[in-house]
Amino acid sequence: MGFPDQRPRRMRRTAALRALVRETDLRPDDLIAPMFVKEGIDEPVPIASMPGQHQHTIDSLRAEALAIAEAGVRAFVLFGVPARKDAEGSEAWNPEGIAQRAIAALRSEFGDDAVVIADLCLDEYTDHGHCGVLNERREVDNDRTLVLYRRIALAQAQAGAHMVAPSGMMDGQVGEIRDALDEAGHQDVGILAYAAKFASALYGPFREAAEGAPRFGDRAGYQQDPANADEALREIVADIEQGADVVMVKPALPYLDVVRLAKDATGFPLAAYHVSGEYAMVKAAAANGWLDERRTVLELLTSIRRAGADLVLTYHARDAAVWLRQG
Ligand code: PBG
Repeated sequence: MGFPDQRPRRMRRTAALRALVRETDLRPDDLIAPMFVKEGIDEPVPIASMPGQHQHTIDSLRAEALAIAEAGVRAFVLFGVPARKDAEGSEAWNPEGIAQRAIAALRSEFGDDAVVIADLCLDEYTDHGHCGVLNERREVDNDRTLVLYRRIALAQAQAGAHMVAPSGMMDGQVGEIRDALDEAGHQDVGILAYAAKFASALYGPFREAAEGAPRFGDRAGYQQDPANADEALREIVADIEQGADVVMVKPALPYLDVVRLAKDATGFPLAAYHVSGEYAMVKAAAANGWLDERRTVLELLTSIRRAGADLVLTYHARDAAVWLRQG
């Protein structure tokens, strides 16, 4: 570009100079904390592969959410772990189901002072662990699954969710859910769409946390091939066209090229999910003294923002917010 006589180190000399020319900021307001709530337990259960994270009771969920909000993070994504599973995952739309009770508990705690987002999927609720209902060939039936997603969306909206977050990667899910919500008068409930969700090995720890590992096969028939970025953009555009309010790329760090592509191509509100395996890697290395956890986490989350994500879903949310406030 022909800039004359560059001495970039001039602007790196002091912390104040660096702050002056910093391009990307990371604020607690940009973070969303995922949390797990489990039915039928009296005490929170630590998740071994996700140090610091728990399967919560309703009470411990409320306490943890308050602590996270105290640190400055005011958005939560909830995952329910039911006591009873069946072939259709019917606890997912039970008005008294664990996720619905948790949504209501957080709404009664925070009102509109925090954003309560409900993960909308079936894998935690089905006895086979897939994200939809199966046909006679034991494959996930896209269109019968959409009928169930409509029911879940309504149950979550009725419980008080500000947004629902469909994560099953069924074709047409955003449009169906938007339609179901509108038809029932829930025009104000938003959709955070897991738009480009890759079939990733990095969900391993989550499957322990949510008890949703598939009992047979894998999710490659509905989640995306990690090799495909053009296809990811098509998925993102499709979700925007179907009425998504925010679109998401997941996982985050291995897919920052997709984040940048999506931001540049659409300019649409964009989230990235720094998933359980990404969290576990940092925690394991930090526990061994191999990485400085604070510096690593803030660098990784800032990089996700720099790549173009407006919002970051991360299990580091509470710690990161505390560190950001310490400056
Ligand atoms: C499916 C769902 C998954 C995650 C979020 N929603 C697991 C999967 O697709 O197997 C993973 C999140 C994480 O790893 O942190 N309901």
